[in-house]
Amino acid sequence: MQSFAALLCAVLTTVTYVSASSFFRMPLTKLASPSSYLAGLPDADRARAAFLKNFASGSPATVPASNLAYVQYTTSVGVGSPPTYYNLVVDTGSSNTFVGTGTKYVQTSTSIFTGEDVNVTYGTGYFSGFEYLDQVMLAPGFVITNQSIGDALSYADFEGVDGIVGVGPVILTEGTLSPSTNELIPTVMNNALSQGLITEEVLGVSFAPATSYNDTNGALTYGGIDSSLYTGEITYTPVTPTYPAGYYWGINITDATYGSAVTVIPTSTAGIVDTGTTLVLLADDFFESYLRAIPGAKIDPSTGLMTVPATSVSEIQTLNFTIDGTIFSMDAAAQLIPIDQNTAWGLSKNKQYGVVSYLGTNSGEGLDFIIGQKFMEKYYAVFDADSNRVGLAYTEHTFTTYTP
Ligand SMILES: *[C@@H]1O[C@H](CO)[C@@H](O)[C@H](O)[C@H]1NC(C)=O
Ligand SMILES: *[C@@H]1O[C@H](CO)[C@@H](O)[C@H](O)[C@H]1NC(C)=O
Ligand SMILES: *[C@@H]1O[C@H](CO)[C@@H](O)[C@H](O)[C@H]1NC(C)=O
Ligand SMILES: *[C@@H]1O[C@H](CO)[C@@H](O)[C@H](O)[C@H]1NC(C)=O
Ligand SMILES: *[C@@H]1O[C@H](CO)[C@@H](O)[C@H](O)[C@H]1NC(C)=O
Repeated sequence: MQSFAALLCAVLTTVTYVSASSFFRMPLTKLASPSSYLAGLPDADRARAAFLKNFASGSPATVPASNLAYVQYTTSVGVGSPPTYYNLVVDTGSSNTFVGTGTKYVQTSTSIFTGEDVNVTYGTGYFSGFEYLDQVMLAPGFVITNQSIGDALSYADFEGVDGIVGVGPVILTEGTLSPSTNELIPTVMNNALSQGLITEEVLGVSFAPATSYNDTNGALTYGGIDSSLYTGEITYTPVTPTYPAGYYWGINITDATYGSAVTVIPTSTAGIVDTGTTLVLLADDFFESYLRAIPGAKIDPSTGLMTVPATSVSEIQTLNFTIDGTIFSMDAAAQLIPIDQNTAWGLSKNKQYGVVSYLGTNSGEGLDFIIGQKFMEKYYAVFDADSNRVGLAYTEHTFTTYTP
């Protein structure tokens, strides 16, 4: 499991929220990756071509995203001219874009060294290296020039991927360059807008439950939303003014319930929506209410995941989050890891694990939940920087039946 939410220490150098400094001590032990994780990295051109939707400058471009090893989403990004393709983690919880943790950065005539060091620490892992300006291709014909990117020379916890495309708010890049520590690095979304490649600074994200180890079942729309990827209306909610959640794609959840009787989140509280985090994490006190409501459920100390006894699996109730007046449910299938994925996750074969876990701190500190990939596999998400809001919508796979 991963959490690529950028640590806030950089931001905290200029804006002081002392109580936040311990937020991203992620409680989860990184799971051992099976050896197949390192299998060859064929390039994504074919899948990309199949997905591509009539890109023209100024209109949104939809590209495929792959669920890798059930725990992260990657997309293929070309850098340089001629481009080298990198499979980069799609991360709304951080904002630096960098390559080099798998396929090394290949410099071409378009690569310009900026003279800066770059160093970013994440919930899991870090990278440091040198910062360049280069040409970055997010989709065929969708080429950002003068994009500042990192070349990772030293790093940890990026197995199987080549880096990150950071689509969080630009403030998260503060403090990552040296010597220009106060300089922000315009993100790919910022530059796509300023260079006229898109007319709205909006990112549409479609994830879905994976059915294979590397499942190209996702889609990213740069510059808009793709109405074929959700059902009904999009519920928009403003980016929360509560910090530190508000530095990210932070939103308020007004309440959460488990089944008809158990309150999990009692009052409006702020947290973040994060494609770079695998699980759904709740502040420890919220999580405790959820855990206690499932007979026999407990935390497995070796993985930090919840385990559910077989006898309780069929009794799992719906976990409902209310966001801006709309209920977003996680049914049993959304809350549980299919047992046939246990080996790929590095888990015990026959146990039933859950995807909802604890944050590692109690509520009340301004970032009380992380809605990660396992929630986003059920709902379409819109990250709208123009209107400073996050949208969520139901999809055709919001509700499914759990078959262990
Ligand atoms: C996963 O699939 C994508 C799309 O086919 C491909 O580009 C990528 O290299 C694959 N990743 C791994 C680790 O096999
Ligand atoms: C990166 O930053 C962290 C935190 O500021 C620091 O501990 C670490 O030494 C830095 N690493 C490099 C290689 O600069
Ligand atoms: C290129 O980007 C850098 C920072 O990312 C900026 O300072 C510079 O003005 C840009 N140059 C051009 C020609 O847009
Ligand atoms: C939870 O949401 C579902 C719809 O997804 C709804 O049918 C159910 O009544 C909700 N439960 C509660 C306690 O609000
Ligand atoms: C968002 O939640 C915070 C608590 O974290 C609360 O103080 C604030 O009033 C809420 N805002 C809205 C619009 O509900």
